[in-house]
Amino acid sequence: MTKQKIKITEVVLRDGQQSLIASRMKTKDMIPVLSLLDKVGYSSLEVWGGATYDCCLRYLNEDPWDRLKVFKKYIKNTKLQMLLRGKNLVGYKEYDDSVISLFIKNSFREGISIFRIFDSLNDVNNIKSSIEYVNKEGGNSQGTICYTTSPVHDEKYWIKLAKSIEDIGAKSLAIKDMAGLLRPNIGFELIKKLKKNINIPLHLHTHSTTGLADATNLKAYEAGIDNIDTSISSFSNLYAHTATESFISMIYKDKDNPFDMKLLTKIAEHFHTVRDNYSEFEGSMRGVDINMLLYQVPGGMLSILEKQLVDLKKQNKLKDLIDEIPRIREDVGYVPLVTPSSQIVGAQALMNVLDNKRYQTLNKEFVDLVNGKYGEIPGKIDKELLKRIDKNYIENDNPIKMSIDEYKKEFSNYCKQNNLKDFSKKDTDLLNYILFTKESKDFYLSKNKNTHNDVIGLQEGFGLFVE
Ligand code: CO
Repeated sequence: MTKQKIKITEVVLRDGQQSLIASRMKTKDMIPVLSLLDKVGYSSLEVWGGATYDCCLRYLNEDPWDRLKVFKKYIKNTKLQMLLRGKNLVGYKEYDDSVISLFIKNSFREGISIFRIFDSLNDVNNIKSSIEYVNKEGGNSQGTICYTTSPVHDEKYWIKLAKSIEDIGAKSLAIKDMAGLLRPNIGFELIKKLKKNINIPLHLHTHSTTGLADATNLKAYEAGIDNIDTSISSFSNLYAHTATESFISMIYKDKDNPFDMKLLTKIAEHFHTVRDNYSEFEGSMRGVDINMLLYQVPGGMLSILEKQLVDLKKQNKLKDLIDEIPRIREDVGYVPLVTPSSQIVGAQALMNVLDNKRYQTLNKEFVDLVNGKYGEIPGKIDKELLKRIDKNYIENDNPIKMSIDEYKKEFSNYCKQNNLKDFSKKDTDLLNYILFTKESKDFYLSKNKNTHNDVIGLQEGFGLFVE
């Protein structure tokens, strides 16, 4: 009897290359295999997300919407999928509903049909509006559980969260294990329970960082998961994901394999060659990194913090920093570490360690996190920390969310002042401006001059991207 074909989402075009070469892959290096990827029979191709959108404008002098057009041109049969940071869309702050709606409408129109929507705190209020807009357009709204471990994150917590995501209208659900924390047997039990408690399809997204992913994916398959995320072999493992070909080989014998392994090999060979162009962006990890299992610090986050310490000539503080991150996490109610909470916790840990005193200097974003501005905290905030924040907290700094019309006017004026054509008239150009104002200014100026100035100054915390 032939087994039913397992549904696989190929992530090389987004998370695979994001995890291994810091999202630097240019569209021209993807084009040669897009039509081959379309032939594999994946349930979807993950092609877009916050970091890739950002990198297109910031480093690659590419319009992310043009990239999407290219995907749509070559990929005719496979669904395109993106990752969305709830109300923050692909950016770093909360946007007005008019902006969220315009972004989703345009993304859907340009070819995205599955929207995986997450919130770093797992606050469903932060993903609700996006889910509703995606449903309104007729897309697949995929709610997300950002997986983490802590005393408050037990099975009961996850089931309750999954149910509430289904209740607000999500059409599918993903377990997103960005740090590779999900152990195979725990994953097996969790998936079994979730499948019993919800009716929408369940997807698993886990990373190989800690070396658990292959076993966890196989156990997830045995538990009845509906869809697994993998990355083509030459962009797999390390900070990335289980290799597509390996996973298929775990499930099928040669004679009953519904996937064309030769086709997959061709795709893998292409990306193998291309990867050499980006060696400067490769991480330093060898084999697996168990820091996450030991200290709950995502690998990518740790290597960036290490680099910052080296730049400050404070390498000797690394151990203190590694110890400090889980302590802060406990103080702020065990938030999962994923964009933007990973940046916020990492930056505060750095301050605490450099000051040699905890919470002597408070980052504004950290104060906002404690005060619930990013959403509901999963656990309890430490009492001492609350006292410290109370003393320092200045009200009335609520950022005003600008409406589409206000952004449009501002962008139109900018174009006028710089003798550019009025880019604000096109939705997708306007969205670029709204989401990445500074980078877009440089990007559209360079269109005029036909040259591109690399933006050197990094946005603070940029390197701490975790999804
Ligand atoms: Co990921």
